[in-house]
Amino acid sequence: MPESPIRKLVPFAEKAYKANKKVYHLNIGQPDIKSPQIAMEAVENHHLEILAYTRSEGSEGYREKIAKYYNSKNIPVNASEIIVTTGGSEALLFAMGSIADEGDEIIIPEPFYANYNGFATASGIKIVPINSKIEDNFALPPISEFEKLITPKTKAILICNPGNPTGYLYSKDEIKLLAAMVKKHDLFLVSDEVYREFVYDGAQHYSILEEPGMEDYGILIDSVSKRYSMCGARIGCLVSKNKEILSTALKFAQARLSPPTFAQIASEAALQTPQSYFDEVIVEYTERRNTLINELQKIPGLKVGIPKGAFYCIAELPIKDSDVFAQWLLEDFVVDGETIMVAPAAGFYSTPGVGKNQIRIAYVLNKESLITAVNILKIALENYKE
Ligand SMILES: Cc1ncc(COP(=O)(O)O)c(C=O)c1O
Repeated sequence: MPESPIRKLVPFAEKAYKANKKVYHLNIGQPDIKSPQIAMEAVENHHLEILAYTRSEGSEGYREKIAKYYNSKNIPVNASEIIVTTGGSEALLFAMGSIADEGDEIIIPEPFYANYNGFATASGIKIVPINSKIEDNFALPPISEFEKLITPKTKAILICNPGNPTGYLYSKDEIKLLAAMVKKHDLFLVSDEVYREFVYDGAQHYSILEEPGMEDYGILIDSVSKRYSMCGARIGCLVSKNKEILSTALKFAQARLSPPTFAQIASEAALQTPQSYFDEVIVEYTERRNTLINELQKIPGLKVGIPKGAFYCIAELPIKDSDVFAQWLLEDFVVDGETIMVAPAAGFYSTPGVGKNQIRIAYVLNKESLITAVNILKIALENYKE
């Protein structure tokens, strides 16, 4: 199993805390936004006498309400097409296990969410990367480039929309191109939409399951982790209209018996969260993104992709190796008792050597902290000697 490129720096961060340094965490996607009160209260006020298993596919009442949520977003699904999972992570694992046999291939635009590597390894799947570029803001690579990579072993295209780590939001036209390609080559299109609610500048998210004719091909991955800032609930879901996918994924679900019961109660209640909660969150993230990008663009020699969604961006630095740089920031660098932790981007690529001068920054800190953190990055780059 590959180690997480985000978590492998943790021992160095711990050393930094021991040395009494304050560390600004730009490295991890744990939002600082409060979880909806209604979800917390639902657990506090429960009336259960036995904390029992639920059905393997998730509790009926919760699935009915998730279906309503999707229908309100122009995604026509019903409860029987939803399997509740232990986070989006387990939904990804079930999806991979359901669509591929040992040695099969999945094409993924890189840079991609690093844990796809771990899920693919666990499922015996080979990831075939297709490079997207910072110069294009990480837009969808040309379909002709995808087609060059399709082999008899290719089972699916996997996208993350909006993207972690790029923040790129695929347009309706790009989704239509992907849909036409998977139909032509009889592949699945797996779309990780865990950040679907986080889109900025008035843009509209277009889901693969909104696209007509994707019933047999589309598999949507979702999660409450980021949407409601409920990462610790460990609830997500797999959604598909393909009956074979559902019955296969259900076998994986049955093997692990049930998603967590309390967390389903919290997640069901979270669905009543008023739109005003999201409106406020979107305003907050838009301001953070603007602040972050504005500050980063003041750093000489730095390139940054402008995120249109999620809460990450990739920055290219005037250095050779961001793994070494990230470790140096924690071990050997400090400004007024403070430093930063960033995620080296090489771990988000699967082509060897690509992305070594890039880092991923998560804007899950308030604006003042972001300004301070980027200033620390600026001073660090001025003082760094490779
Ligand atoms: C793109 C993406 N997919 C899936 C996940 C998994 O999230 P969870 O298992 O908490 O739902 C994450 C978490 O950061 C993510 O960034």
